[in-house]
Amino acid sequence: MSFKQGDKVLLIDNKGKKFMLDLGERDELHTHNGIVKLTDILGKEPGFKLITHMNKEFSVLQPTLVDYIQKMKKLPQTIQLKDACQIIANTGLCREQNVVEAGVGSAALTIFLSSIIYPGTITSYEIREDFANLSRKNLEAYGATNSIIKLQNIYDGIDERNIDLVALDLPEPEKVTGHALEALKHGGYIFSFSPTIEQVIRFNQSLDKEKWIEIKAIECITREYEVKNMGTRPKTLMLGHTGYMSFARKK
Ligand SMILES: C[S@@+](CC[C@H](N)C(=O)[O-])C[C@H]1O[C@@H](n2cnc3c(N)ncnc32)[C@H](O)[C@@H]1O
Repeated sequence: MSFKQGDKVLLIDNKGKKFMLDLGERDELHTHNGIVKLTDILGKEPGFKLITHMNKEFSVLQPTLVDYIQKMKKLPQTIQLKDACQIIANTGLCREQNVVEAGVGSAALTIFLSSIIYPGTITSYEIREDFANLSRKNLEAYGATNSIIKLQNIYDGIDERNIDLVALDLPEPEKVTGHALEALKHGGYIFSFSPTIEQVIRFNQSLDKEKWIEIKAIECITREYEVKNMGTRPKTLMLGHTGYMSFARKK
């Protein structure tokens, strides 16, 4: 594969600082390490080394889903990938499944889920037009073709049926559990991401225990290590709390 006009490229320096851009969008990039000529990338393969006028090096790579979510424009708080991946581990989500999601926010979770279930579809409900518009742009720029965004309040109901997963990241998930029962297929899951434990409790209390099984709430804490010749230890700073994740399965 060699890079051509219009391709997305990732420039990464030796310290991990990243730039993501579309080839052809401009001729030069001004960075903390000097200026690079982006036209030099045309016709080159991933792994090509771009040297700035200050003699610093950038590796030119194809961006992944992770790079894309890190670098895309965001408005409301997005879900972290360490949390999003828990959905797969706890529901078995896979290709060809169909998902309903709310709210879409900046579409970080939408992009993640759309890539897992493709060619299945993800339908996302969002009440704010500005967030819906940004999400459409982010999804289009990523190249997702299996996503639909509806400017609609999910508390009023879910139109879709025979769904494998209803994924929620909004303030009152307890208002959706009844609608999710109608939308989900038997064996399908509901997932809710909530920053506070009060939301987890309200969500749990709204689940009719005659109709839901495998009800659980988890948190995912990751600790990164600094590996050095002189010694290896946990990093001093870590992301302490992002949110709780609740799951339940329709009987
Ligand atoms: C924290 S953001 C979601 C972020 C998203 N998961 C991401 O990773 O980019 C919460 C979103 O829910 C939307 N929202 C809140 N209540 C809603 C409702 N009743 N129906 C649909 N969307 C709603 C908000 O407008 C906001 O965009």
